[in-house]
Amino acid sequence: MSQVTYGKTAEEIDKSRLGGRLAPQAPDPAGKVIRPGPPALPASLRLSAGPHSAFAGYGSPAHAGSRHASPSVRQDIAFRLQVSQVIYIKTSAEIDKIRRSSRLASQTLDHVGKVIRPGMTTERLDRIIHDFMKSHGAVPATLGYKGYPASSCISINETVVHGIPGSRVIRDGDIVKVDVTTILDGYFGDTCRTFRIGSVPENAASLASAAYECMMLGIGTVRNGSAVGDIGEAIQDYAEGLGYSVVRDFVGHGVGKQFHEAPNVPHFGKRGKGPKLRDGMVFTVEPMINEGCWQVNVLADGWTAVTADGKLSAQFEHTVLVDGQGAEILTLSS
Ligand code: MF3
Ligand code: CO
Ligand code: CO
Repeated sequence: MSQVTYGKTAEEIDKSRLGGRLAPQAPDPAGKVIRPGPPALPASLRLSAGPHSAFAGYGSPAHAGSRHASPSVRQDIAFRLQVSQVIYIKTSAEIDKIRRSSRLASQTLDHVGKVIRPGMTTERLDRIIHDFMKSHGAVPATLGYKGYPASSCISINETVVHGIPGSRVIRDGDIVKVDVTTILDGYFGDTCRTFRIGSVPENAASLASAAYECMMLGIGTVRNGSAVGDIGEAIQDYAEGLGYSVVRDFVGHGVGKQFHEAPNVPHFGKRGKGPKLRDGMVFTVEPMINEGCWQVNVLADGWTAVTADGKLSAQFEHTVLVDGQGAEILTLSS
């Protein structure tokens, strides 16, 4: 008996829970920048649980399970990586372009949902993603990014993030995280879904649903005047309440004219902590939720992150715009 659920994501299965609040268009605060309190680290950096952790500034060490870095250490890392700590407030013209790029990214994943099949290699799927973006006038942002060799990240089961497409075959029963980022007209759109392939074991299906719910709960806290830490607390409380863990080493990030901008958006932390959100900020919420422990190992390829205990991991990612009393989700499925 085989359920026909190829390409179904938790998002599609749980469509009724899709509660993206669509707030009215924000005014155009052109050129305005917000300088956040704690310095931000680049999201592309592997944020270890040690002194260079993304916890810095977002919650008590006890809550986050790690130590704080001293401001000077964080400052130094940010300096060496030449990452701006400024959170850009996008103009309405920029928001328009991010919105278009984000829509194409979500359409790319809609297309993935139609073609993903057991028996397919991840490099075959990556080629399809590449061609889809190109034929719609976009560039795959990951291709050549800091040396990354592919047009998408495809991470199966115990692979948490940054799975490099290759000869691995997608199997019935797998959960497959497909993360795509488009550059369209100079602006980025970034989104990820966990696809359930065929008859997925109950524990894997539940984990995927929980990751989706975590993302939506995090986004649900977003409004003008809320804090980055509100997102993390909502996600961490829910995930840990279900007995899951939240990956610490990778975080959400500002996005727009660059792939990874300030602020960092940890998926754990404390309400009220971290930078305050303002209308016109655009960032991702992309919780990686593990069945077992939160620790990850990065393989010798320098990219592929796998769970330290070999158990499953699931992820969803939306690009969102802070807009008045809520968030506008820019990467909704159509
Ligand atoms: N799309 C990922 C993110 O959500 C980043 C991938 S960077 C790559 O931030 F180099 F690994 F592709
Ligand atoms: Co991202
Ligand atoms: Co992504």
